[in-house]
Amino acid sequence: MANIELTDLRKTFGKGERAVHAVDGINLAIGDGEFVSMVGRSGSGKTTTLDCLGLLMRPTSGTIVIDGTDTSTLSDGKRADFRSHKIGFIFQGFNLLPSLNAIDNVMLPLRYSGGDKKAARRRAQDLFEEIGMADRMTHRPAQLSGGEQQRVAIARALINQPTLVLGDEPTGEVDTETSQKLIALMRRLNRETGVTFILVTHDLDLASRTDRVVRLKDGRVISDERQTARTDSPAPDIADLVPAEAGTDGKGEAIAVA
Ligand SMILES: Nc1ncnc2c1ncn2[C@@H]1O[C@H](COP(=O)(O)OP(=O)(O)OP(=O)(O)O)[C@@H](O)[C@H]1O
Ligand SMILES: [Mg+2]
Repeated sequence: MANIELTDLRKTFGKGERAVHAVDGINLAIGDGEFVSMVGRSGSGKTTTLDCLGLLMRPTSGTIVIDGTDTSTLSDGKRADFRSHKIGFIFQGFNLLPSLNAIDNVMLPLRYSGGDKKAARRRAQDLFEEIGMADRMTHRPAQLSGGEQQRVAIARALINQPTLVLGDEPTGEVDTETSQKLIALMRRLNRETGVTFILVTHDLDLASRTDRVVRLKDGRVISDERQTARTDSPAPDIADLVPAEAGTDGKGEAIAVA
């Protein structure tokens, strides 16, 4: 749903001889509902670009226009507001809070955006259905597998009904099979909701399943290719995303999910 335009985006860290031009003049337009990957070697500027795009960092120069709003003109408060209403994040390493259970983690972004609590909880419950984890809502992160934690992180990115989801290595810490399921889940959510996805990744399998691959080198775009996303291994049914031992802790003991 989001329309993004980066014009001559630059981010320089440090000064003088020690200056690092992490982002060095990126021009990029991404349209509504696109499912894009951003690839490139370590240090090529992917995370920095994503942090600027997510309004987590101010660029040194250049503009970022999201859905017609030139974000460089926004005050810090307005930027935070814009971020919490429009953008969902899937961070590297999940970033779930260990002391909160899964559903409270998913609802965390709502603390900053306000709104009707009951409706929010219903929406969170719907998202757990969507990710095939309705029976895991009250588990804490430590009681979930890596793939499950990552699915919770995806649900959390979507709780505010953003128009744009940004992911930094969203499949970085899971095995190949889990990674494929996560990709299928994100693709389905992209198809069904029209949310724009921009995913930074080293995972070539993930990149091959996106509609467009933007490659960075030394803070610049060196290629930008549209592709027919690979569909050779069909998207798994949502039932496949639910662990076989659903409702138990894997040792056959039922876990109470209130
Ligand atoms: N806060 C910072 N201060 C100084 N230099 C930085 C800072 N953050 C990033 N850099 C430098 O900017 C460059 C781009 O970093 P960035 O994190 O965007 O790379 P990346 O493409 O995400 O790499 P990776 O694949 O390893 O995550 C790197 O050379 C890095 O050392
Ligand atoms: Mg990075």
